[in-house]
Amino acid sequence: MKQILISVIALFVLFSVQTIQAKDDSCLNCHRDLGDSPSGLFLTDVHYKNGLSCSDCHGGNKNSDDMEVSMSKSEGFVGVPKGNKISEICSSCHSDKDKMTALGASVKTDQYENLVNSVHGKLSVNGTERIVQCTTCHNAHGIRKVNDKLSPVYPVNIPSTCVKCHGNADYMKNYNSALPVDQLTKYRTSVHGELNKQGNPKAAECASCHGSHNILSSKDVRSSVYKLNIPATCSKCHSDKEYMKEFNIPVDQMAKYEKSAHGKAVFEKQDISAPVCNDCHGNHGAVPPGLSAVSNVCGSCHVINAQLFSESPHKAAFDKAKYPECETCHGNHEILSAKDQLLGIKEGAVCVKCHSETNSQKGYMVAARMSSTIDTLLALQKKANDLVFQAEQKGMEVEEAKYTLREIHQARLESRTIIHSFSEKKFSEVTDKGIAAAGVVVGEAQNAIDEFYFRRYGLVAAILIISFLMIVIFLYVRKIERT
Ligand code: HEC
Ligand code: HEC
Ligand code: HEC
Ligand code: HEC
Ligand code: HEC
Ligand code: HEC
Ligand code: HEC
Ligand code: HEC
Ligand code: HEC
Ligand code: HEC
Ligand code: HEC
Repeated sequence: MKQILISVIALFVLFSVQTIQAKDDSCLNCHRDLGDSPSGLFLTDVHYKNGLSCSDCHGGNKNSDDMEVSMSKSEGFVGVPKGNKISEICSSCHSDKDKMTALGASVKTDQYENLVNSVHGKLSVNGTERIVQCTTCHNAHGIRKVNDKLSPVYPVNIPSTCVKCHGNADYMKNYNSALPVDQLTKYRTSVHGELNKQGNPKAAECASCHGSHNILSSKDVRSSVYKLNIPATCSKCHSDKEYMKEFNIPVDQMAKYEKSAHGKAVFEKQDISAPVCNDCHGNHGAVPPGLSAVSNVCGSCHVINAQLFSESPHKAAFDKAKYPECETCHGNHEILSAKDQLLGIKEGAVCVKCHSETNSQKGYMVAARMSSTIDTLLALQKKANDLVFQAEQKGMEVEEAKYTLREIHQARLESRTIIHSFSEKKFSEVTDKGIAAAGVVVGEAQNAIDEFYFRRYGLVAAILIISFLMIVIFLYVRKIERT
């Protein structure tokens, strides 16, 4: 009885193993017995979990336990793929929409095409294959879903995946010795890199800014980090209220930037000398190279303003109070075209934020005087313009006065910059030039107009005199004739 039971159980066990083996994958089973690493890793592989077999990549017959048969060329066995063959095998499914749908997959099918056209799709130095294959970033066995924390392309792990090459100077110099290899070092100094290190998948990592399969050089106009595309790349996250919810920072940078003098120059005039996000914030580091803080970035373009500011009484005062240099008056993202109204003591002026009749009074007085000087200069400029226009309309020669008009305009422009010295003396030197030039133009144009009237009235007088003389002569002639 006991023996029968044992043989029944034995039979049952044997049967079950048989069915499992029949249903199972002979490649996997035999290789599991060999204890090799591919078969071990494969158990965690997304392809295994989706019912795929070793033979889906390597070919061969997964139903035969005989290795001679299962791994024979006649059964389509390809052995170990090398070079571009690897990516071709992956893309035999991943680029085939119908096949992927049939396998119940819902992922995109553009990876291969993007990769081939990317900077990584170029031929590597060995001249026979591309720089990267699918397995360079995803591995060959134990491939995991992108949102699996152990995937090499899970956001937190991406920096180490890219830096295998991009942090290796010996390797990179074979390709482009001018390309820096310090991206990770710098990245770790940024808020993004810091959060990433702490395991936060939401902070920008290499692929959030550069893409994954479609990576291009920043000089390529299609690149996500090409100058004109940067604001869109950053604001993908930074303008997304929902995405940024857990972080306590504003999400209005792009909305403000678009309205700024800088944003308008970039978007409306395609002026690439104006800054986009990374010109102020840096590419990888917390700040652009060579700066101690983002707030000091303005001076790298507005050199004279920054120089004047650093020699001004505000420099020490702002440093002491920890006011950022330029932002305090101009803002950071919504930097508008600077208007006269910024200066002075009326509504809209920035000076009155800190200066008043009772507090920091000297600055208040200076602001008032500077702004009234500007008013004077503008009034004179208008007058000069009007008079020159009138003289021209009357057909008078005013080329020289017209030329001098430019000097007034120039002084006006310079005064906007020299304001940053916050020195009444330096400011007056510039505005005085403008006021003097305006005086000259007004004088010249007025003379021209006077001359016009002089000529016109002179003509009338001359005609009158001539007519009078002619009448006199006529009468005189008549008188002679009569006599
Ligand atoms: C009965 C055991 C057995 C089965 C079944 C089997 N293999 Fe193998 N396989 C081996 C052994 C043993 C080796 C190592 C032989 C050698 O080094 O040449 C090997 C080698 C390989 C290699 C490496 C070849 C090389 O050139 O280095 C691959 C790839 C491979 N097998 C894939 C498969 C696939 C795919 C299947 C199913 C279609 C399969 N194997 C079925 C036992 C098996
Ligand atoms: C998703 C495709 C894919 C699947 C599925 C796959 N392999 Fe591979 N395998 C590769 C690629 C690609 C290589 C090439 C080497 C590389 O890039 O690491 C490779 C290499 C190998 C090698 C050579 C030695 C090594 O470790 O690189 C063996 C052996 C091997 N595979 C066995 C298997 C076995 C056994 C299975 C199933 C348990 C399997 N592979 C499933 C793609 C696959
Ligand atoms: C340079 C590294 C790299 C290479 C090479 C690479 N991938 Fe990816 N792959 C990624 C990253 C990073 C992601 C994460 C998602 C993202 O950010 O787009 C990803 C995501 C994926 C996904 C998930 C769906 C998707 O598109 O987001 C699939 C499928 C995929 N890769 C397949 C491939 C295939 C097939 C190849 C080869 C043709 C390949 N990958 C080559 C880095 C790479
Ligand atoms: C036989 C077809 C086939 C081959 C060959 C194949 N894959 Fe896949 N792959 C799939 C299917 C099906 C999925 C599951 C997709 C899903 O769950 O939506 C998948 C999933 C993936 C994923 C996870 C995508 C995600 O959802 O995050 C990656 C990464 C991936 N494959 C990479 C590769 C790489 C790399 C190769 C080549 C070494 C390769 N695949 C070869 C069919 C294939
Ligand atoms: C197998 C090594 C390797 C890996 C892994 C790799 N790269 Fe590259 N990458 C290169 C090489 C080599 C070049 C230079 C190509 C050239 O200019 O000739 C390059 C070029 C680039 C460029 C263009 C640089 C420029 O401006 O010319 C960017 C951006 C880039 N890689 C980003 C990434 C990112 C992001 C990752 C990770 C998702 C990554 N790379 C993974 C080798 C690699
Ligand atoms: C916040 C966005 C962002 C992140 C995150 C990021 N990059 Fe960049 N990366 C850029 C920008 C912007 C440029 C330069 C564009 C330019 O030259 O105008 C750049 C340039 C590059 C270059 C060209 C050489 C250079 O240093 O200028 C490489 C290579 C590169 N990045 C790789 C990486 C790698 C690897 C990582 C991850 C460790 C990474 N990047 C993370 C935005 C980013
Ligand atoms: C993948 C989404 C994502 C992308 C793309 C991205 N960021 Fe971020 N960024 C974040 C997150 C999340 C934080 C963390 C917010 C925090 O904790 O302050 C952050 C923080 C920052 C900070 C620091 C804010 C602070 O707290 O002082 C700056 C500056 C910044 N990002 C600029 C940029 C720039 C510039 C770009 C484009 C070149 C960019 N980011 C692209 C997600 C992103
Ligand atoms: C003209 C320079 C400049 C430009 C262009 C710029 N920023 Fe800023 N940004 C700053 C300054 C200055 C700060 C304040 C930083 C500080 O005090 O440390 C700042 C702060 C930030 C912060 C921190 C949170 C906040 O709003 O104060 C984020 C995030 C940010 N910027 C993202 C962006 C993004 C995204 C873009 C592009 C759409 C961008 N910035 C364009 C100069 C700039
Ligand atoms: C105390 C307030 C204040 C500070 C601080 C300040 N500015 Fe100005 N800025 C002004 C005023 C006022 C104007 C002139 C408006 C007008 O008259 O048209 C101006 C005008 C400008 C202009 C337009 C005129 C020109 O020179 O082209 C630029 C650019 C400028 N500032 C940049 C900067 C930079 C860069 C910094 C930091 C180094 C800075 N500003 C600091 C108040 C300030
Ligand atoms: C990458 C160079 C660059 C950086 C950095 C930069 N700017 Fe500018 N800025 C420009 C250019 C170019 C323009 C002219 C845009 C235009 O055509 O109107 C401009 C315009 C301005 C104007 C309007 C000038 C006017 O005539 O009214 C102000 C004010 C200004 N910037 C202040 C700043 C401040 C403050 C910072 C730092 C937070 C800064 N800029 C950073 C290049 C830069
Ligand atoms: C963020 C605050 C702030 C703003 C805005 C500001 N100032 Fe000042 N200013 C100061 C401080 C602080 C001092 C240091 C001396 C003091 O306390 O009176 C100072 C000093 C001065 C001085 C030198 C006074 C002296 O005692 O020699 C002048 C001139 C001046 N400011 C003009 C201006 C003008 C013009 C504006 C507007 C374009 C302006 N300030 C905007 C804070 C500011």
